[in-house]
Amino acid sequence: MSHGDKVKRMPEGFIRIGTSKNTPVAAFAHFPRRLYGVQFHPEVEHTEYGRIIIRNFVKDICGAKGDWTMKSFVRDAVNDIRNTVGKDGRVILGLSGGVDSSVAAVLVHRAIGARLVSIFVDNGLLRKNERETVRDVFQKHFKINLRVVDASREFLTVLKGLIDAEKKRRVIGRTFIKVFEREAKRIGGVKFLAQGTLYPDLIESRTAFGGPSATIKTHHNVGGLPKKMRLRLIEPLKYLFKDEVRKVGSELGLPEEILGRHPFPGPGLAVRIIGEVTKEKCDILREVDDRFILALRERGLYDKIWQAFAVLLPVKSVGVMGDERTYENVVALRSVTSVDGMTADWARVPYEVLAKISNRIINEVRGVNRVVYDISSKPPATIEWE
Ligand code: XMP
Repeated sequence: MSHGDKVKRMPEGFIRIGTSKNTPVAAFAHFPRRLYGVQFHPEVEHTEYGRIIIRNFVKDICGAKGDWTMKSFVRDAVNDIRNTVGKDGRVILGLSGGVDSSVAAVLVHRAIGARLVSIFVDNGLLRKNERETVRDVFQKHFKINLRVVDASREFLTVLKGLIDAEKKRRVIGRTFIKVFEREAKRIGGVKFLAQGTLYPDLIESRTAFGGPSATIKTHHNVGGLPKKMRLRLIEPLKYLFKDEVRKVGSELGLPEEILGRHPFPGPGLAVRIIGEVTKEKCDILREVDDRFILALRERGLYDKIWQAFAVLLPVKSVGVMGDERTYENVVALRSVTSVDGMTADWARVPYEVLAKISNRIINEVRGVNRVVYDISSKPPATIEWE
């Protein structure tokens, strides 16, 4: 309760039920009318008894039964999807391999089976083995109707010569829409587009006063899709938070490998290669990233970290290999702890682990002779470098 505003006088019939150092009325109630107000955040981690306050309100005061479970959610969502799509409607979905689109795919697949066609676009900016993992999980295991489109050349061509991060994001977004539309046309007869939109996405795309919120980075790069294609949207996860989506995924049998994955930005490696993106740079970065992630997994650190990745810098540095002088790339390793990605702290990965990772990268990845570790927190630094 550290805000500057305070309640000086209570409305008729209200009585004070809470106070703090900063404010005489931190909570009040009108018992006969069953109205309650608090002027602090019961939902944040640091509020002692916050959960109890919310539980009392929701269950004892509002009388909610608490019978909403992931099982009941899945059952209702499957019914809803079936009702919306009807007996012979067809649905397409852009599968990225991330948690949200993966859970959405499996959920819609459970509802309508092969009438869902999932499209996975390989834009050449993915992590190592990403395409294979997606194939294994969705095509082989879940038997989902999956189309894998290799558009890596197309993406790398439009990225040629671009340095500015926002420009890179924009052309990637546009190219994605183009590739996706082309593929959808090939499938034909599609009326619905399923998306793994979450509740925070809904909130972030609206502001309290209806105006556009400041764009720090243009994250939602497939936003133009449904309007252009005249498809009806199916967004079964739109009232869920990330942790709930993970639970739904687990209820649906998705492997930990997918559910526990660190977030990965839509523009992929393009925003982790500072400056111009080329295939050669992507290949180097993929190898570095892979060594880093494997080492974190081996040490049991991966699941404690919100996001870890490598960044390829547009800097060459001098080194020695044997008797030779080298002039090679510098990579930065970034790993952060966070609850929601809005704020983040750099992860205190032990020195000896960092030392091993650095040796491994420099010894095994050609083209890299220097590794640095990013020790900036968000804010003011963002998680991604671009
Ligand atoms: P920042 O860098 O803004 O990142 O601190 C917060 C979270 O958002 C992810 N991120 C993106 N995701 N498209 C995405 O889909 C983007 O352009 C993008 N930029 C950042 C970032 O990885 C982190 O999880």
